[in-house]
Formats: sequence, C-alpha cells, structure tokens
Amino acid sequence: MEPHYPFSLPPLPYGESDLLPEIDEKTLHFHHDKHFAAYVDNLNKLLAACPACQSWTLEQLCQYWCRLPGDLRQGIRNNAGGVYNHTLYFQGMTPTPGEGPDVALSAAIDRDLGGMSAFKSAMKTAALGVFGSGWAWLVCDREGTLSIRKTANQDTPLPLCPLLTCDVWEHAYYLQYQNRRGDYFDAWWQRVNWPMVSRLYGQCQENRPRYPQD
Ligand SMILES: [Fe+2]
Repeated sequence: MEPHYPFSLPPLPYGESDLLPEIDEKTLHFHHDKHFAAYVDNLNKLLAACPACQSWTLEQLCQYWCRLPGDLRQGIRNNAGGVYNHTLYFQGMTPTPGEGPDVALSAAIDRDLGGMSAFKSAMKTAALGVFGSGWAWLVCDREGTLSIRKTANQDTPLPLCPLLTCDVWEHAYYLQYQNRRGDYFDAWWQRVNWPMVSRLYGQCQENRPRYPQD
C-alpha cells in the first residue's frame, strides 16, 4: 500500500554529519528539517481542503495534478512534487556509496549513456543547465532504457521511472558552496547511493511500484 494523506516527513536516512565533507550538517539540517518538512506540511494543509484527493497516492498527485480542483491545483502540484523529489534525493545519498552501479545497471549505462564518465558528464550538464530552481534526473522507461532529464521547480519526470536525482535548488547547496553549483554536483556525486539506484533499476524493470519507499 502506497502512502497517501496525511503524509509524514521521512526521517533523514543518516546522521547530519555523515555526509561530510561533501554535504555539511547545516545544509542537511535546513534542507531536511525545514525545506522538506515545509513541503510535507503544506501538502497536508492543501489536501485537508480536498477530501476527494485524500486517497490519492503521492505518485498520483504528482502525475495527475491537472485533474485537481482549480484553486488547489498548483499548490498541490508544487508540494506533492516537493515531497516526492526530496524523498528520492535524500535516499539517493549515503555515507557508504559502495563500488558503483551493479552489473545490470552498469551494462545499461554503457549501452544507453556511453559509460560512467559520459553519464556523469551528461548529468552534470543537466544539473548546470537547469535555469533557476529544479532537478537533474537519471530515469528509465518501461523498456529499461536510461536517459538524463531536467525538471523545473518541483516537477517530477513521472511516468518515467526515476532512479536518481540531484536537487539544484539553491537551498540544496548555497550554505556550503554559495554559487558554485558545479562544485556541489561533484561533491554530491561522491555520495550517490549506488545500491539504491541499482535496486530501483531492477524494480523498474520488473514493473513494480516505483516509489522509493514501496
Ligand atoms: Fe531541496
């Protein structure tokens, strides 16, 4: 059963100092406990005014926001996306990144993206290319083909299957890296949770529920 209203803030999956030196405690604290928490609170407040929407899953809210009541539509779109995107973002980092993608994901990266070096380069280009606030993504389609995407604001790449995301809102890096988004990306890359990315790729291949907390 996937989660629906009322949503709760997922705990940070590691300690605030566990991603040092790449991501510092202050950044993680404000990003998770203030920004992410605000998206959860705001989404619940909006859904409290929409009983017909309260049985929708987070993925449904993100994908089908255009069917929501007009006065709530944009707010729910923004905040449901904020909850979905940040859930994957925080799970996508780890104190123990492991040795990289597993065999199946590595083969797909070689096939679709030209190898790890080209993948990192394309992901970084996407992250640096987001104008204003948004996200860079590694996604796969139902055939298992990988691609790199960008989304603006809190939009998601659904119904494509998200595997990994880099938050390039300034609140994700400004306290530590100021305007140096590229340095933040390189640091974030050192903390990518490859076991999670590999697991999600396997789940997408099996057409299982795609939400990372399923
Ligand atoms: Fe964020």
